[in-house]
Amino acid sequence: MSKTIPITSLDDLKSSFTTLPIIPKELKAPVGLLQDAHGRLLHDLRISVTDRCNFRCSYCMPKEIFTKQYNYLGQSELLSFEEIIRLAGIFIGHGVEKIRLTGGEPLLRKGIEDLVSMLSVMKTPSGKPIDLTLTTNGSLLQKKAKALFDAGLSRVTVSLDGINDAVFRQMNDVDFPVQDVLDSIETASLVGFKNIKVNMVVKKGVNEHEILPMVEHFRNSGVILRFIEYMDVGNTNGWQMSEVVPSQSVIDLINEKYPIVPVEQGYSGEVAQKWQFVDGSGEIGVISSVTQAFCSTCTRARISMEGKLFLCLFANTGFDLKQLLRTNVSDLEISNAIANIWQGRQDRYSELRGKIHAGEISHAKVEMSYIGG
Ligand code: GTP
Ligand code: 5AD
Ligand code: SF4
Ligand code: SF4
Repeated sequence: MSKTIPITSLDDLKSSFTTLPIIPKELKAPVGLLQDAHGRLLHDLRISVTDRCNFRCSYCMPKEIFTKQYNYLGQSELLSFEEIIRLAGIFIGHGVEKIRLTGGEPLLRKGIEDLVSMLSVMKTPSGKPIDLTLTTNGSLLQKKAKALFDAGLSRVTVSLDGINDAVFRQMNDVDFPVQDVLDSIETASLVGFKNIKVNMVVKKGVNEHEILPMVEHFRNSGVILRFIEYMDVGNTNGWQMSEVVPSQSVIDLINEKYPIVPVEQGYSGEVAQKWQFVDGSGEIGVISSVTQAFCSTCTRARISMEGKLFLCLFANTGFDLKQLLRTNVSDLEISNAIANIWQGRQDRYSELRGKIHAGEISHAKVEMSYIGG
């Protein structure tokens, strides 16, 4: 049985604990490399820009909980674009080279292309452009793809849990047609996006029969399809280990029909294990957070839409950076506060999952739609 904190109000679904970051007395200039308590560098920053989504995927925002009455954040509670840019600059000073915009659904945030254009011109201290990317459910991408590309977005990832219309409608739970997402992917490619990725969360008995049809659809298209093990994020999806399809089974299933071989990892800390089709028809990936935890190389920090810093997808404490941004605190002070937080980072939830579910350790979490995947 999953051991989670009981939900007593809708607000409990957001953040269980908030901590005000401490500004160290002795301030140091950032040096572009920051190690946590397990020697992991800070390299990726995932910024969630909204807690809203127009889908209700049952594994993420179940309909029964995320109703119209759900207490979403108001506009003034969200970080402004200027605040996001300020934080991004500070994180880049600490070694961040990759920024991903997430949500909820990030394309629901008004003026998202303006934020992209502000972020896309940012550079690392050594002058390298930032790898700027975005994860979307694809529903608004057809409309926004060109503006995003023109604003300098480097890459885009689309979530798509099935190619069969009925299955997809069941997965998004708002009766959204699959063709609209497929059209979005095509438009994204036409406006110039390369290496588009499609993420499919695989849930046993729900969409596992879509694995091969998805492979068949995206082979030879240039789109990189990735299969994600269903995870116990948040407190509302009723996750059970028996619903997880291990990546190894996905690989075996595909390999039997379309032989694949592993591809060397792109960089240490890469989330997906990559495979390519022997016949040259493209690449796939698997993300095995449940059966093969990758915490030991996890270089990702997450900022929620209201400016809280989370050190893990399964974290229960958010460090309130907005509070610092909205008081008279200098960039150097914020930079030192962030360094202090990262240096104390011990998080490795996926490696401890077994013990947590066995009840040996108690652990509260925030919702995936809040922290942004
Ligand atoms: P690319 O650079 O485009 O390959 O991005 P990525 O590999 O970081 O992948 P992406 O951001 O698309 O993440 C895919 C999925 O992997 C997410 O939606 C999560 O479900 C899962 N994931 C990503 N990062 C983490 C992480 O740090 N921990 C865990 N447990 N899962 C993660
Ligand atoms: N398990 C695995 N992946 C998830 N995502 C959302 N919830 C889960 C979950 N419980 C994925 C979405 C999307 C990204 C934002 O996170 O499918 O690709
Ligand atoms: Fe929305 Fe993505 Fe969550 Fe589905 S997984 S409800 S599309 S944020
Ligand atoms: Fe990183 Fe936490 Fe995911 Fe482990 S569970 S890889 S520490 S985000």
